[in-house]
Amino acid sequence: MDHQSLFDLFFQHFGKPEQLPAIYFAPGRVNLIGEHTDYNGGFVLPCALQYGTYLLIRQVNEPVIRLASTNVDFQTEVPLSGSFTRMENHWVNYPLGVMDQFQQRKISIGGMELLFSGDIPNNAGLSSSASIEMVTAFALKELLDADLSLVELIKLSQKAENQFVGVNCGIMDQFAVGMGEKAHAIFLNCKTLENKMVPVLLDGISMVVANTNKQRGLADSKYNERVAECQLAVTYLSKLFDISQLSEISFMQFYKVQEQIPDEVLRRRARHVISENQRVLNAVSCLWNNNILEFGALMNASHESLRDNYEVTGFELDTLVAEAQKIHGVVGSRMTGAGFGGCTVSLVTNEALDHFREEVGKRYHEKTGLTADFYVAEVSDGVRIIPLPQTYTP
Ligand code: GLA
Repeated sequence: MDHQSLFDLFFQHFGKPEQLPAIYFAPGRVNLIGEHTDYNGGFVLPCALQYGTYLLIRQVNEPVIRLASTNVDFQTEVPLSGSFTRMENHWVNYPLGVMDQFQQRKISIGGMELLFSGDIPNNAGLSSSASIEMVTAFALKELLDADLSLVELIKLSQKAENQFVGVNCGIMDQFAVGMGEKAHAIFLNCKTLENKMVPVLLDGISMVVANTNKQRGLADSKYNERVAECQLAVTYLSKLFDISQLSEISFMQFYKVQEQIPDEVLRRRARHVISENQRVLNAVSCLWNNNILEFGALMNASHESLRDNYEVTGFELDTLVAEAQKIHGVVGSRMTGAGFGGCTVSLVTNEALDHFREEVGKRYHEKTGLTADFYVAEVSDGVRIIPLPQTYTP
């Protein structure tokens, strides 16, 4: 949506066209490899996308927060008195959770009007939630002139999701949305937050995101279940090693003692996390050495482990990946994000792109009855302010 139309919608909701709101943008993200490692203190390799969330925001002299979205027909008004109340299963929990974090830091929130407008496919595992959180956090920091660094905004947004929304997510999504850089993937150590931008030079190869369009019911509770399983696996391994997170041991160390985890399911969960962590390190070397074929093989291995060890894929994701991997010209394919539906990411040679979309789309539909959507990803920058247009005519 262009800026003029966004302003029009803002004034349709909130009136007073003589006061222009500021505009901010935060992208969504796609993770290349390193899935379900972040909350285990491991490595990830995400990048920011061209799709994201715009936020138009303006302060008002009344004790209310007015929130609206162009994506759903919904507008609400929250009184500014005391703490915010969570709404069951609602997107407003993301901005309200961020405001709650500001209040917990004794940064007082004044009255304001916010209009969100996003083009990230909803509920597709491309971090539309982290995008809403980060755009809110960044805009509030600017508007309130709060003394918070970008890393603090990232941590605060993750806390909003953990404490207000109730999903025990790691830090990958907020970090990618906040720190993304055009044409680079972020190699992030989620324990220390040390990070390095790795150029994604995919000469003649496109990064294709495919949405299964499967409804992700109960995904949040299954996600929290995996987080808890990993913590339980640590309690067994910490009898043998001085560790507090699964990422702290190597695959060789784990391999020798894995039988000490009596529960077979927990053992597989740990096997995924620890092997995936090593795959990220190998994948980063591949990117530096421009060894895209080996990178693709690691993507395929990652999917296999997420399917068999971590069990977060399901029929639709497995079908979309299996059909992609059959196409000549596909370097690698895997699910991306939390799983349980959502998207896959594939590296496809440019010559094979049309055939890929057509064949994979057709076979996926035949097998699942669902229609997949395909997007060619452009690796983009993180959260930012959008300069106001020179002219606006209401
Ligand atoms: C979701 C979470 C992230 C991460 C991924 C899985 O996107 O928000 O923190 O755990 O799942 O890698």
